[in-house]
Amino acid sequence: MQAQADAWRRAGRRIALVPTMGFLHAGHLSLVRLAREMADKVVVSIFVNPTQFGPGEDLEAYPRDLERDRRLLATEGVDTLFLPSAGEMYPEGYQTRVTLDRLPQHLCGLSRPVHFGGVATVVVKLIHIAKPHLAVFGEKDYQQLLVVRRMVRDLNLDVEIVGAPTVREADGLAMSSRNAYLAEGQRPAALTLSRALTQARQQVAAGERQAAVVIASAVSMIQSEAEAIIDYVKICDPETLEDVSVIDRPVRMALAVRVGRSRLIDNMALVPPNPPESAQGETP
Ligand code: PAF
Repeated sequence: MQAQADAWRRAGRRIALVPTMGFLHAGHLSLVRLAREMADKVVVSIFVNPTQFGPGEDLEAYPRDLERDRRLLATEGVDTLFLPSAGEMYPEGYQTRVTLDRLPQHLCGLSRPVHFGGVATVVVKLIHIAKPHLAVFGEKDYQQLLVVRRMVRDLNLDVEIVGAPTVREADGLAMSSRNAYLAEGQRPAALTLSRALTQARQQVAAGERQAAVVIASAVSMIQSEAEAIIDYVKICDPETLEDVSVIDRPVRMALAVRVGRSRLIDNMALVPPNPPESAQGETP
């Protein structure tokens, strides 16, 4: 992979990387298409990264279908599918880990304490291996996108991080490989995430400024489905992820909800009507 990337760079080609854990869906393919628009060569990595799973999480059960993934990527004209093994990524004696001080202290980092260190570590490795000019990440994993952006800035990595909008099913469910764990009857519970976010967006657009009020409405919408068990419902600063109590500028609402075996996450920007000019703008 490194030799290929060096040859492309010598020939003046612009390289885009789309890191994935496979079991691809339309959300991943939208990242690949964006990468294709922005670069000459597109590398997709598939690696179910063990260091971002904590004890008791779904590393073994994580859905895999490499043959289907290969077919999907071939139809997208991907130049290289990079498929490292765990032994190649973390050989005997491996002992280095990238950690961030503050961003992982929020949202998913609280119930998944090793997760973002594992993500940051594998992403910096993939960047050094595929040597991309840009790397594309979905906004569905909003905290991950912030962590990667922060790490790239902090470590002076010479790569542009591009965030791509969340792709949803027709009924609003954010696309995720983990949706494969949902049983048919669990769909109404899974849909409470996007419904709660849409309701919150409407409340804030209509002038509600109290985060506690918006959160309470979201909680009651989610709890209306017995199978939906809330991990967190937060309204936070879109860059630091600190809690926000008064919505007087664009903020981010983020949710994690367990439905059966799946832990689903979703997020959305909440934009108050006519925020002061200095506070406008979507992040990240
Ligand atoms: O979002 C994912 O699929 C993973 O967290 C990533 C970025 C490929 C790192 O393993």
